[in-house]
Amino acid sequence: MHLYIVTGSSRGLGAALVKQLAQPGHAVIGIARRLNPALKAEQWTLDLADPVPAAERLQAWLHTNTGWDSATLINNAALLSAPGPLAASDLADLSAALRVGLEAPTLLSRVFLAETAGVPTRRILNISSGLGRRAMAGSAAYCAVKAGLDHLSRALAREAPDVGVVSLAPGVIDTDMQVALRGADPARFPEQARFQGLKDGGQLQTAEATAAAVLRYLQRADFGQNVIADIREA
Ligand SMILES: NC(=O)c1ccc[n+]([C@@H]2O[C@H](COP(=O)([O-])OP(=O)(O)OC[C@H]3O[C@@H](n4cnc5c(N)ncnc54)[C@H](OP(=O)(O)O)[C@@H]3O)[C@@H](O)[C@H]2O)c1
Repeated sequence: MHLYIVTGSSRGLGAALVKQLAQPGHAVIGIARRLNPALKAEQWTLDLADPVPAAERLQAWLHTNTGWDSATLINNAALLSAPGPLAASDLADLSAALRVGLEAPTLLSRVFLAETAGVPTRRILNISSGLGRRAMAGSAAYCAVKAGLDHLSRALAREAPDVGVVSLAPGVIDTDMQVALRGADPARFPEQARFQGLKDGGQLQTAEATAAAVLRYLQRADFGQNVIADIREA
C-alpha cells in the first residue's frame, strides 16, 4: 500500500492531485480547512496556520499506521496574502501566509521523516513557484515562502539522502490563487495586468493537467536528483 499525504486538498491543484491519486493500492489523506465532498479520500479538516497541532495529528497517525510500501508527503497548501506592498499589508494576513506556506511544511516534514523511517521509498514534494526564484513586487511574503521552501528542500535533501526531496514549480494554474492575483487592486499591485493577460491569453493550465504532470514527475526514476525543478522544464 502506497501512502500519499496532500495538503491543500479542498480545491485547486491539491484537489486535482487527490482525485488522481485516489486509486486502488493507494491510501490518500487530504488536509485543508474545508472538506471537498467530491473527493474519495480521507480528509482532515485542519488549519495549517496553526501548524503544531496539525503536525502532532500527523505524527500520531503515522505512528500507529505503519507497513507502507512507499510514503509521499506533498506540501501543496499555500495562502496568498492580499497582493500589495508589504508596508501596507495586514499583519495577521502576512503571518498566516508564512505559517501555512513555510512553517507547516517544515513541521509536517519533520514528523513525516521521523515516523516513516524504515519505509522503503519515501518522497517529499514541495510545491514551490517561479516566484521563489524570481522576486515580484506586491507579494513579498509569498516570494519568501517559496524561496524558503526551495532552501528547506535543499537542506533536507542533504540531511536525508535516502528520501527523494523536490521543490517543484508547477507553472501557472487556473485556480482561486490566480483569481486573487488578477482581482487585486492595480494601484496596490502593479503586476495585476500581467496576471489578467495570462488569463485573457489562455495561458493558464488546468489544475487537472498540472496534477497529471506533477504525478508523472513524482513517479520518475530520477525523482530527487534535481532538488529544484520546474514542471515547464521537466
Ligand atoms: N495557481 C498558480 O498559478 C500557482 C503558481 C505557482 C505555484 N502555485 C502553488 O501551487 C500550490 C497550489 O495552489 P492553488 O493555485 O491550487 O491554490 P488555491 O486554489 O488557492 O488552493 C489552496 C489550497 O490550500 C488550502 N489552504 C489554504 N490555507 C490553508 C490553511 N490555513 N490550512 C489548511 N489548508 C489551507 C486551501 O484549502 P482551504 O481554503 O479549504 O483551507 C486550498 O485547498 C500552492 O503551493 C501554490 O503556491 C500555484
